[in-house]
Amino acid sequence: MAASWLKDAVFYEIYPQSYCDTNGDGIGDIQGIISKLDYIKSIGCNALWINPWYDSPFVDAGYDVRDFKAIAPRYGTMEDAVELFKVAHEKGIHVLIDLVPGHTSEEHPWFVESGKEHPCDEYAHRYIWTENAFCRGDGMPFIGGEQPRDGTYIINFFKCQPALNYGYREIHEPNWQMPIDAPAPLATREALKDVMRFWMAKGADGFRVDMADSLVKNDGEEKLGTMEVWKDVTSDVRKDYPDMALVSEWNNPGCALNCGFDMDFCLDWYGNSYSHLVRYYQMDKDGNVTTENSYFNHASDNDPMGFLKDFLPKYEKRGEGLYCMITGNHDCKRTSFNLCEEDRKLGFAFLLTMPGAPFIYYGDEIGMAYRWTPTKEGGYHRTGSRTPMQWDNSANLGFSTADTKDIYLPVDPNPGKATVAAQEADPDSMLNHVRKVLALRKAHPDLGNYTPFEVLYAKENDKLIVYKRGEYLLAVNPGMETKTFEVEGKYELVHSFGSASLEAGVLTVNPRTLTIWKPVK
Ligand code: NOJ
Repeated sequence: MAASWLKDAVFYEIYPQSYCDTNGDGIGDIQGIISKLDYIKSIGCNALWINPWYDSPFVDAGYDVRDFKAIAPRYGTMEDAVELFKVAHEKGIHVLIDLVPGHTSEEHPWFVESGKEHPCDEYAHRYIWTENAFCRGDGMPFIGGEQPRDGTYIINFFKCQPALNYGYREIHEPNWQMPIDAPAPLATREALKDVMRFWMAKGADGFRVDMADSLVKNDGEEKLGTMEVWKDVTSDVRKDYPDMALVSEWNNPGCALNCGFDMDFCLDWYGNSYSHLVRYYQMDKDGNVTTENSYFNHASDNDPMGFLKDFLPKYEKRGEGLYCMITGNHDCKRTSFNLCEEDRKLGFAFLLTMPGAPFIYYGDEIGMAYRWTPTKEGGYHRTGSRTPMQWDNSANLGFSTADTKDIYLPVDPNPGKATVAAQEADPDSMLNHVRKVLALRKAHPDLGNYTPFEVLYAKENDKLIVYKRGEYLLAVNPGMETKTFEVEGKYELVHSFGSASLEAGVLTVNPRTLTIWKPVK
């Protein structure tokens, strides 16, 4: 049984280094997050996901963890973290932190020990070491020649991120690949449980789990080994913390939501459902958008089928869980890169009234710009979505009082840039639009997280989708042609973004409209 608060959870993702700096050192901190909780609540969010805040050399922005049980000094202290949990809870906000189970930093003491010529038994196989320094990785990326140990090791992502050893489902190299129930992989699992219990005891409400599918190697499409590990880990930790909430970076509800996760993300992977909706474009070699063909681009001919063909089969495998829509995240370009504000407003109205717990990436609620920025901490093209939050028109847009040259990433110099302060005052702003959508979601349980989604009409070469959420009837038409649909039964209007009418059984959906109706009983 999932934690009951997930029923109406609406998440806000915070990239801590870029949110709010309270000590004037140019980088965001935990006290900064605490100071903005009322703002976050005012949007309509009641839960947070905070990107990694652990001690790290920051080669991959903190996804290279050096100590799972220490807060990076640049963000504050363990006391600050505990205070954040406490203050958030007092305000009715739940907090998920990022858990990175698949790898550590190469500076993690476990890895340093395992790379010694004669490592101690406890850590000798915490990572996946091959049998000698000239051995290849059985198809997986590997590094050799860097450590005194006579072996190469498998990496999970960047070179700085050696893969933790949860074992292999199919063993090709018995000299160094271990089954998932061998003592060393089992010990890795216990170490992971220990980290989870540590943070739950401090007051966390659960975790966003990085690369959740990456634990067991040679695991095939079905991921049976990884699922077995997660079933054990989640059920064991839930014995102590039954309300722990977990969201996986997996984009595979059939696996994730059947092995202990409560939520899985619908991710921005090119060609999948999310990208069809709001990020379906091509770029030239200089990074300029050449063809923009997202469904929510009013001028595109992208019909709903690309979205639905990928989304529905995954959604249908969600079991008791939540398949969650995102406005964006720290790994993809903000939708402001390729969609105009009006198209984004409609896109967000759709995403934020879909099933699953919605996740809003900080700054998306004001339509912050994606800005090409030199890479920082392993961000590369992602860096442009990680720039400081834009609060007001004061120095550094209210993000930090530090000297401008010392801030984490440059703020948007564009005179027309979005800020919270300016948008508060404008009833038609993106911010107030997002607030309106989330208020509707809250007021109508049929738009809620667990309420089913059912398509009544969607066809090739037609922009219209007519669908149900519970008993509610919705239609979205992001295109420029008016659409009609014959409706049975009596409905009354809940709200239209854009304009629509229902007369004599015909629903008319004008261009650039999302309309919501409820049955007349
Ligand atoms: C996914 C995270 O979202 C991304 O930012 C990170 O670089 C990789 N996993 C590696 O941990």
